[in-house]
Amino acid sequence: MYELRNVTKRYTRGKETVHALDGVDLTIPDGDRLVIQGPTGGGKSTLLQMLGGLDRPSSGEVVLDGTDLAKLSEAKLTRVRSANIGFVFQSFNLIPTLTAQENVETALVPLGAKAKERRERAAEALKSVGLGERLGHLPSEMSGGQQQRVAIARALVKQPKVLLADEPTGNLDESMRDEIMEVLERMWKELGLTFIMVTHDSSIAKKAPRLATIRKGKLSVTENTGR
Ligand SMILES: Nc1ncnc2c1ncn2[C@@H]1O[C@H](COP(=O)(O)OP(=O)(O)OP(=O)(O)O)[C@@H](O)[C@H]1O
Ligand SMILES: [Mg+2]
Repeated sequence: MYELRNVTKRYTRGKETVHALDGVDLTIPDGDRLVIQGPTGGGKSTLLQMLGGLDRPSSGEVVLDGTDLAKLSEAKLTRVRSANIGFVFQSFNLIPTLTAQENVETALVPLGAKAKERRERAAEALKSVGLGERLGHLPSEMSGGQQQRVAIARALVKQPKVLLADEPTGNLDESMRDEIMEVLERMWKELGLTFIMVTHDSSIAKKAPRLATIRKGKLSVTENTGR
């Protein structure tokens, strides 16, 4: 479970200060599925970076299961991140010279998994996203939707507690977008993850049971129980 208390993030460039996050309070229970939307520059990616321990707040607490990520040393933060948090980005971020299988295996290296175990778990993860036949393909030999599925397998192969996705369908056409959303939804249900996703897609946002909106660094949450 996440508990964010009065989280701010300021970026200073010369004389100008941007309040990317401005006093954000947010509780995310285990197994929740939270969609984050809002105008460009509103602070969505910044919030995801705080949740993922990719960056630290200027002030406030980002508590994951009782541990304030903002206070951890860099080494401990890296450990929490590589064991517990999976990321999926708009731009896939696959390593172009590695096969699908090898890209997925990279997520297991920091966890100290042996080569054989890495191979088996990566193959299993790729099968679960429907890419069992593409293990030896390079990213350049796959469609955008397939590359994003490799990225999802890489995020999930370590069996994280949390999956963070920043506009995971942003670079995909409509049919691939639906396909990727189906994979993400299925993984969320099957794995009991906490799933937090930033999207510009209003059709996805409309269906979300819990919707967070960030404007100018300020967050509000609405429950869509009636829909
Ligand atoms: N590293 C940085 N240095 C300076 N300013 C930054 C940095 N990262 C983000 N910002 C600023 O913080 C604000 C929030 O940025 P953020 O990337 O979180 O927005 P966003 O909601 O994800 O936007 P988009 O929908 O375009 O992805 C913006 O004004 C942005 O310019
Ligand atoms: Mg963004």
